Amino acid sequence: MTDIFLEDRFDLYTKAHLQTLIKLRELEDLINQIELGQMAGNQVGDLLRVLLYFSVEERSHHLEEEAEVLSKFKILENHEINQMIRKLYQDHSWLEQNWTDIQEHLIAVVYKSGWFDLLELRRNFEIFNALSLSHIKLEESIFPQILRITQISKDIREVELVIDA
Ligand SMILES: [Fe+2]
Ligand SMILES: [Fe+2]
Repeated sequence: MTDIFLEDRFDLYTKAHLQTLIKLRELEDLINQIELGQMAGNQVGDLLRVLLYFSVEERSHHLEEEAEVLSKFKILENHEINQMIRKLYQDHSWLEQNWTDIQEHLIAVVYKSGWFDLLELRRNFEIFNALSLSHIKLEESIFPQILRITQISKDIREVELVIDA
């Protein structure tokens, strides 16, 4: 029997991951423009939208994954999956810290005020980008495994119910 709720959740997460990949490329393009000193006035709006995406949508995505999946499956009797779930939690907190570091530079660019360091922005972005990619890759590999394990244990429970009846 398929866990529809979990399957739907994972489909939504995959869509969110694709959106994050697009936003990372947009952010990279914008940082290139900032570096070249060629950011047009209308690109400030694009930068604000990217800022909003990672500050609000990406953050709620992490919180949702933790509430709907990670917290529920961290006690699975599978050492490898438990380790990976711990790694996903750790990634979320590093990504949040990393984004906070990037954010302050981007806000300074948008409002043309405050402290802003191009080299540091570039370095923080490279770290954020690499960690986001490896994090998404890990989730896309672990979520189907969780789905398989929950289906197997459901099937076992159903067989036991039939036997006990
Ligand atoms: Fe995710
Ligand atoms: Fe995640």
